[in-house]
Amino acid sequence: MHVLITGGAGFIGSHLAERHLAQGDQVYVVDNLSTGSLNNLDAFRGHPGFRFAEADILEWDALDQAVAWADRIYHMAAVVGVKKVLEDPVAVMATNMSGTERILRAIQSGGWNPQVIIASTSEVYGFNEKDSFAETDHIVLPSAGRLRWAYAVTKLADEFLAFSYARKYKLNIVVVRLFNTIGPNQVGHYGMVVPSFVRQAVQNDPLTVYGEGRQTRSFCDVRDTVVALDMLAACPAAWGEVVNVGNDQEISIRDLAELIVQRTHSTSPLHFISYKDAYGEEFDDVTHRRPVLNKLRALTGFMPEWGLRDTLDDLIERERVKNRRAA
Ligand SMILES: NC(=O)c1ccc[n+]([C@@H]2O[C@H](COP(=O)([O-])OP(=O)(O)OC[C@H]3O[C@@H](n4cnc5c(N)ncnc54)[C@H](O)[C@@H]3O)[C@@H](O)[C@H]2O)c1
Repeated sequence: MHVLITGGAGFIGSHLAERHLAQGDQVYVVDNLSTGSLNNLDAFRGHPGFRFAEADILEWDALDQAVAWADRIYHMAAVVGVKKVLEDPVAVMATNMSGTERILRAIQSGGWNPQVIIASTSEVYGFNEKDSFAETDHIVLPSAGRLRWAYAVTKLADEFLAFSYARKYKLNIVVVRLFNTIGPNQVGHYGMVVPSFVRQAVQNDPLTVYGEGRQTRSFCDVRDTVVALDMLAACPAAWGEVVNVGNDQEISIRDLAELIVQRTHSTSPLHFISYKDAYGEEFDDVTHRRPVLNKLRALTGFMPEWGLRDTLDDLIERERVKNRRAA
């Protein structure tokens, strides 16, 4: 199979590339390396089935040929992470909406019907105060133009772009609402909590918890996420649908911090800071982000293999190895 991955030098995209190369597929990655890194591709850059283009999806001149070559497209390129969104909302709007539209137009005009995964996010559920979220739940977004929600709005626009193209041109597109994903290659610079906590705990530094740490999240290991995406792309009943992808085990951020300290045998204290200090402005955080996974399970039978503790132990060990190498 020929697999095109936009944003394939990023966290999730690099795991998709690895999985498909291991399956014997040909993999073509395009990435502008804005948050992604060539280090994430090191393990397979010399692989005969692998090709990489450093380019912006808004301008990449080989996009039409690459789309026509592909049997499967994972559209993962996006400006991601709350910090980035607050720093540069214009880039978020452009990349996340125009980039997606450009890909969909290329697919439609290519006259060939590849399987397509469009990455959306649990952030689209917005400020809905339910404690778990099914695909049919209402989207609740504050109306006062708070830029913190720009990312959710662009991803929602992507969903509607995808549904419009799928409906009008009968394209084989699945929109996936990804919930918090963790694992190797994820970095903490852009506000991702687990890599930040692991780095702080391994170095015996204080773990920085925003607010009181009572907000809960459900973390899915990326090595499970890519299995679910692969299953969904190949599932005709999922084409034209939106599907939650994640793990439904839930933990508060405070308990997560304590668990990481415990598993690292670290002496790190927890350091609580306000959202205002963290983001430089008032910030609407959501209290729960737990997926209802009935639709994913009914379509694919998917069950995650990685538990939170296994993922954390793996990440802690990788961080220790990295620190030993750097010393
Ligand atoms: N990681 C999560 O928990 C999570 C949760 C929900 C949704 N998602 C979605 O999954 C996708 C992948 O996220 P990730 O966590 O791997 O983030 P990431 O930042 O590691 O990956 C995004 C990749 O896109 C690339 N990119 C950004 N703008 C680009 C452009 N204009 N042209 C080409 N490449 C560009 C970046 O360099 C990066 O490699 C994103 O669409 C994101 O919105 C991720």
